[in-house]
Amino acid sequence: MEAYVKGARPRFEHSLAQMVELPSVSMDPTRAADMKKTATLAVQLLRDAGAEARIVETGGYPVVEGGWTTGKHHPTVLVYNHLDVQPAQEPEWRQAPFAFRKDHGLYHGRGATDDKGPALTALLAGRYVVEQGVPINVRFLWELEEEIGSPHFADALKPRAGISKPDSVVVSDTIWIAKGRPAVPYGLRGLLGARLSLRTGRADAHSGLTGGAARNPLTELCDLVNACVDAETGRVKIPGFYEDVVPPTKAEVENFLASGFTVGRFKKAFGFTSLRSADPAEVLHRIWASPTFEVHGLVGGYIGPGVKMVVPGYAELKVSMRLVPNQKPEKIFRLFKRFVAERNPNVTVEAEGMLHPFKGHFSGPYAEAAQRAVKEGFGKEPVFIREGGSIGAVTTMQQVWHVPILFMGLSLPEHGYHAPNEYFDWGQASGGMKALAAYFTELAAMKK
Ligand code: BES
Ligand code: MN
Ligand code: MN
Repeated sequence: MEAYVKGARPRFEHSLAQMVELPSVSMDPTRAADMKKTATLAVQLLRDAGAEARIVETGGYPVVEGGWTTGKHHPTVLVYNHLDVQPAQEPEWRQAPFAFRKDHGLYHGRGATDDKGPALTALLAGRYVVEQGVPINVRFLWELEEEIGSPHFADALKPRAGISKPDSVVVSDTIWIAKGRPAVPYGLRGLLGARLSLRTGRADAHSGLTGGAARNPLTELCDLVNACVDAETGRVKIPGFYEDVVPPTKAEVENFLASGFTVGRFKKAFGFTSLRSADPAEVLHRIWASPTFEVHGLVGGYIGPGVKMVVPGYAELKVSMRLVPNQKPEKIFRLFKRFVAERNPNVTVEAEGMLHPFKGHFSGPYAEAAQRAVKEGFGKEPVFIREGGSIGAVTTMQQVWHVPILFMGLSLPEHGYHAPNEYFDWGQASGGMKALAAYFTELAAMKK
């Protein structure tokens, strides 16, 4: 294995370079041609590794499916990754975000860690076990719309798309607690995004001539934010919001605390000066097991130099709510819409993506196999945690297939998911290849 991983490094780096250099920003309509090239390249990389591969069309960008079917009676594992990325317009980039840069075992560029590096790591792990004659079918499913909430992923799971139901799924799209502290997550938060818009005038008006009588849409949207959430505590004030929340069990809280999480490292990894709480147990409860209401943008009025005294005619608010078991995005949207309508009937509310929360298992044969595999790959037992992020495709696979879904993420907090100067590294890739290969081998030995 050691020799294989060493030998696979040039192929891994070359493939990752090719992938990162395609700006596969799914939310940017001007990147449609790059999305297509990404699907084509993905098929080619699978085939170059000796696997079959094809493009499966959906109502949006396609998914890429491929892998090795080594025997009808062997168990089948399906590895999920995504190849679309977030935009990279942040001014803090020290390099062109889509120019791959290799530097002492670090791989820089948008998408390197989320999620192109882990996808290619899994591919090379699969190639290894198949070459070794391990009796397992390893299939890959690479999505191109994860970063926009997986709106057409269900199309790819319809019978006519021809993707057979696997015996289990591995998702490699999550992060560890810290470098050297592997984690096997078993939970994700759900998500409800929304855009609120308010027009109170045809255009901006002089605030001296009209102010006092004119309604200010920015002020009214700020009032709405204040009605929805307490800025100091983060407590959501929408009636009924917490109704279905299931608190974590005692065993889960114990896992959280045993995870090795520290507030200091968390602050450093994300560059925070202070937090809403300094207590590690509370911070973990907040990021993994509590729902949120977040403001992402407030658009409107004047943002150039100086202060331009106008009453804006229009404003828009971009928000999202992270959800936890057993909250349902559809229900939360109804509660939210009703609350906004009561408070300010002129505001238009539009949902932007609804993802259900996910909770799997942290015990049983799959979790134990994952634990042993990670130990083998990285020399250290992983801890079982939840994640605060969301992956729309996961609950879709659960609903359609009803098979065990395990997470074997390879990213580190400092790799910078969605942030400027994102990177991946060879330590995580090489350990990941070993861990995933060990996991596939464990699965092969498990009864179908
Ligand atoms: N890989 C992340 C999900 C994730 C984040 C897992 C943090 C574990 C920890 C995924 O690519 C992602 O960014 N999801 C988005 C979905 C959204 C854009 C619809 C998210 O969580 O915001
Ligand atoms: Mn991701
Ligand atoms: Mn992401």
